[in-house]
Amino acid sequence: MESQMRHQIPATLIPGDGIGPEVVAATVQILDALGSPFIWDVQQAGVAGVTHCGDPLPEATLASVRKNKLALKGPLTTPIGEGFRSSNVRLREEFQLFGNVRPVRTIIPGRYDKVDLVLVRENLGGFYVAHEYYVPVGDDPRAVAVATGVNTRDACTRIAKFAFEYAVKHERKKITVVHKANILKVLTGLFLEAARDVAREYEGRVEMNDVIVDACAMQLVMNPWQFDMLVCTNLFGDILSDQLAGLVGGLGMAPGANHGTDTAIFEAVHGSAPDIAGKGVANPISILLASGLMLDHVGKSDLAVRLRTAITEVLNTDQIRTRDLKGTASTREFADAVVRRIENS
Ligand code: NAI
Ligand code: MG
Repeated sequence: MESQMRHQIPATLIPGDGIGPEVVAATVQILDALGSPFIWDVQQAGVAGVTHCGDPLPEATLASVRKNKLALKGPLTTPIGEGFRSSNVRLREEFQLFGNVRPVRTIIPGRYDKVDLVLVRENLGGFYVAHEYYVPVGDDPRAVAVATGVNTRDACTRIAKFAFEYAVKHERKKITVVHKANILKVLTGLFLEAARDVAREYEGRVEMNDVIVDACAMQLVMNPWQFDMLVCTNLFGDILSDQLAGLVGGLGMAPGANHGTDTAIFEAVHGSAPDIAGKGVANPISILLASGLMLDHVGKSDLAVRLRTAITEVLNTDQIRTRDLKGTASTREFADAVVRRIENS
């Protein structure tokens, strides 16, 4: 009992909106079967935060993450065009989660076999700083829309160092810096310049090249195997990580980790999927794999490996898949199958 207690790790659990509670419930069930060390403090955010506490980012949720410095978060709905600001973006800002790691790997062999890529996204700057406004002209209050992007040399250097350190630690050989420095010469030119400076410190250990974002999008479809790691500004990283997910079976297959200097929040790349919410058919693999990254993060890679093995066996040996993967299993049936594999492993 005492030895069990010693290995418990408190963490915040945010079920989130839409399919969030469904995929989070599946994940908790599977982590329990795995004997994971996490002790969950359940908190709300997003639309669920408004419903439960009248706030899309309640103080209790912030206090819990501040204390635990570790969270697993379901997707949070953000109103489009108007309404409250993204709680995801606010969480990243509040805890200075500057480094977003989004790995993708082919699990189900298909059109894109053996894809194994890691995208690192700068998570705080660029066009996400929300310096946006309308300029009225005549009787049109929204005649002109203006957005300002902000990249600082410090932030660019920090994310580049983070990416190179990740490469060294995970034995990745090449980093491709994604930019649009031909057009956004200042905003993304600085990003490229800082990355080149950092790359010099890693010469002989990690190779670096760069690519313009539009060409990168095309190359990812034509020949994704040429890439090892991508490091991107905030907006390009957001867009390309959904594209990467598409290479390996869709948004149901893509986990993410948001890292700061002392806090980390793990989540799926996808959103709250309102079109399938409440139907019990969502694919829980993205957030499950995110919980695997969380196990790696706390030094429990043995459990993470068992988790990933069980997922692979259920998909490929048992052939149990959710609808997005052309299967017929419900979220719950898939989760039960993973639990069976874990119990027999
Ligand atoms: P989305 O990622 O929620 O859904 C896009 C498409 O992928 C939908 O057809 C959906 O059914 C499908 N999909 C996504 N996850 C799936 C899963 N696990 N299993 C099966 N199918 C899945 O993107 P959308 O619709 O643009 O955004 C919905 C809401 O989510 C918005 O309010 C958006 O702001 C929010 N969002 C939140 C994120 C977060 O919390 N980190 C990230 C992305 C979007
Ligand atoms: Mg996104």
